[in-house]
Amino acid sequence: MPEPVESVIQPEEAIQPEETDAAAAGPEAKGRYFLRFTLGQRYLHAVLFTTFLVLAATGLTMRFSGSVWAIRTARLVDGFGTILFFHKFCALVLTLAFLIHVREIVARGIFKREKGIFWGPTSMVANWKDVKDLFGHMRWFLGLGPKPEFERYAYWEKFDYWAVFWGMVVIGFSGYAMWFAPFFARFLPGWALNAALVIHSEEGLLAILFIFSIHFVNTHLRPDSFPMDMVIFTGRESEEEFKSRRPEEYQRMQSEGKSATRITDAPPHWLINFSRVVGFTAILIGLTLLILTLSAYIAG
Ligand code: HEM
Repeated sequence: MPEPVESVIQPEEAIQPEETDAAAAGPEAKGRYFLRFTLGQRYLHAVLFTTFLVLAATGLTMRFSGSVWAIRTARLVDGFGTILFFHKFCALVLTLAFLIHVREIVARGIFKREKGIFWGPTSMVANWKDVKDLFGHMRWFLGLGPKPEFERYAYWEKFDYWAVFWGMVVIGFSGYAMWFAPFFARFLPGWALNAALVIHSEEGLLAILFIFSIHFVNTHLRPDSFPMDMVIFTGRESEEEFKSRRPEEYQRMQSEGKSATRITDAPPHWLINFSRVVGFTAILIGLTLLILTLSAYIAG
């Protein structure tokens, strides 16, 4: 049965259990499962990572256009013009996804006055607990204290989210300034358009290095999710994972009597296999781009 398309942002604790074929559940299907990400959020992430991979691959080819691999890639697709075409196409798709996300934040936070979106345990906005968790985590790494009890979003997840959000604004604005230079030249001095190229290029490289190293390590290569955390693909995690990764959220859901609203079936076989293939492909492409970037830098 097709899953319902839900909001791209999770309504505060109001997720409805998804209907899945329990008989088709995967081998890991022991015990209860909880929904962490709605279908809308998973679609949004899918659009984000596919367009980002293409933007990174095409951007790098243009940036290191003198290197052997870039020239070969350009020849394969009939020149750098085609590379730029794909870059612009994915930029438009990514911008659309970003605007849908922003529209939803505005609708829920401002028009529906959902305070939890800007403040509180389920918000992406950093709070005092995140600061305490950060230092507590450092102490735990050094064996000097207990592991912090994380809430719905841990401090590094919020950091990843804001890095992408902020990066999107800077990269997007500078990208459109270059794309529609004659229009922007009506309001901006000439040097600002030259600066746009430098900002876009450097921020693009920073985004590539950040996503393919820090984000990959944070989400997939940590000991408790190695070799890949599939929750962003399947949307669900087992009760055991939920309890051990986000004990404070788990406790809060129990004490507020809201756990039942998040209980769902185990991910079916096909979804687990599909997630593995998509996830590993994305990680492989990301790591290849990371190696190409570093090697192009080292080669000068
Ligand atoms: C809204 C999003 C974006 C838009 C509108 C955009 C637009 C552009 C345009 C028009 C160019 C060609 C500049 C020229 O003619 O020389 C370009 C180049 C480039 N873009 Fe983007 N882009 C976007 C997102 C990204 C992202 C997400 C990345 C990185 C992952 C990226 C990395 C690059 C790089 C590295 C270059 C080559 C710059 C250079 O030659 O030094 N772009 N972009």
